Amino acid sequence: MRYFEEFTARLFKWACGLAFLGVCGALAAQPAQLAISCGALGIQLTLCQEGVAAWSRSTGTAVTVVATPNSSTERFALYQQILASHSPDIDVFQIDVVWPGTFAPHLVDLSRYIGPDITDQYFASMIHNNTIDGALVAMPWYTDAGVLYYRADLLQKYGESPPETWQQLTATARRIQQAERAAGNSRMQGFVFQAKGYEGLTCDALEWIDSFGGGTVVDSAGRVTIDNPQAVAALDLAASWIGDIAPQGVLNYDEEASRGVFQSGNAVFMRNWPYAWSLGNAADSPIKGKIGVSALPRGEVQGHHSGTLGGWQLAVSRYSKHPALAADLVRYLTSYEEQKRRAIAASYNPTIRALYQDEDVLEAVPFFGTLYRSFEHAVARPSRVTGSQYARVSAEFYYAVHDILSGKLQAAPALNALHQKLVRLSRGEQW
Ligand code: GLC
Repeated sequence: MRYFEEFTARLFKWACGLAFLGVCGALAAQPAQLAISCGALGIQLTLCQEGVAAWSRSTGTAVTVVATPNSSTERFALYQQILASHSPDIDVFQIDVVWPGTFAPHLVDLSRYIGPDITDQYFASMIHNNTIDGALVAMPWYTDAGVLYYRADLLQKYGESPPETWQQLTATARRIQQAERAAGNSRMQGFVFQAKGYEGLTCDALEWIDSFGGGTVVDSAGRVTIDNPQAVAALDLAASWIGDIAPQGVLNYDEEASRGVFQSGNAVFMRNWPYAWSLGNAADSPIKGKIGVSALPRGEVQGHHSGTLGGWQLAVSRYSKHPALAADLVRYLTSYEEQKRRAIAASYNPTIRALYQDEDVLEAVPFFGTLYRSFEHAVARPSRVTGSQYARVSAEFYYAVHDILSGKLQAAPALNALHQKLVRLSRGEQW
């Protein structure tokens, strides 16, 4: 009896072994498959799916497109989990411009597959941003800079021009908001932007502060600079907008929520990224043909126009089973033709210099030409200098700014406390 039990157990193991080998054999015989995590919703996801499908057809490689959360902060948390577990499930990741330093240890050096004949066509600053300890850990896919959208029809109606300074924006927004409300649109808002507690608020607040001459929170030498009078003045002004020219609800707005209000015709001004242009001018948009775009306003004293540098890159996971194929998919998706298609269809800013001289692109998105300098000189978040600590620095910053905007804290003491916190962090982590 005992012998019989042992025998069946052995037989079972053997059968399992064979079955396992069978599975392995079947797997080995199967052609390679890739998975890419890109796009979150709407046209962003569709465009990625279309680009991937075109590469798939030409190479015969099946690719699964995995949608990601829309918020950069949530996407970061998800990718961190996947990469920390060394999972091979996703080959290609769409990463934010502020992440190369953090994720570099998990990413393939793409310079093994994509040579300088290709990378030289891109903005050198972006290739530099994505090069960590000599390794090219991601290819620039599209770039971003914050811009000001305005209702050209409303400015004309009230004899106003696009504002040069934030103070002018405040006055114009208030005036048109009041007049439009009196004329019957009770929902009209003066200005909408991103003030929810997440990475988007870091981008908006950096623009206010930098445009007031208040620096970039941490400077390029790693010194914490946030506790200064210009930064306080910028945030005092921004806090005064809430409940005046901006709704209380803006404290919970991300890019899409602001776009929803602006695009439905209920805001005079909006701060957003270039992608909002083609959606605002789409056939079904109530404000089609009524939108103007300019550089964001500057502070009145010591001010300059500023727009935060954003943008997304494509990177190959070090745990991918097919790094060469995955790198080829990245090469294709970031190529001239593919970036051109994306710029025309959805106003995604190209990362290849020559595309800013391409007539089809300039016709589809005229402000790529007029605001070229804003894109070239966009202000970077302090991600390079703070390296793997960037997410913490940004979170401390947007928590503090959110408390100031919602009236919980005064700007001066809040920035002083933030300064102390960041200095302690910088010492501990030695950036
Ligand atoms: C945009 C930018 C990105 C930024 C994010 C914040 O997607 O391209 O760099 O982090 O907005 O919400």
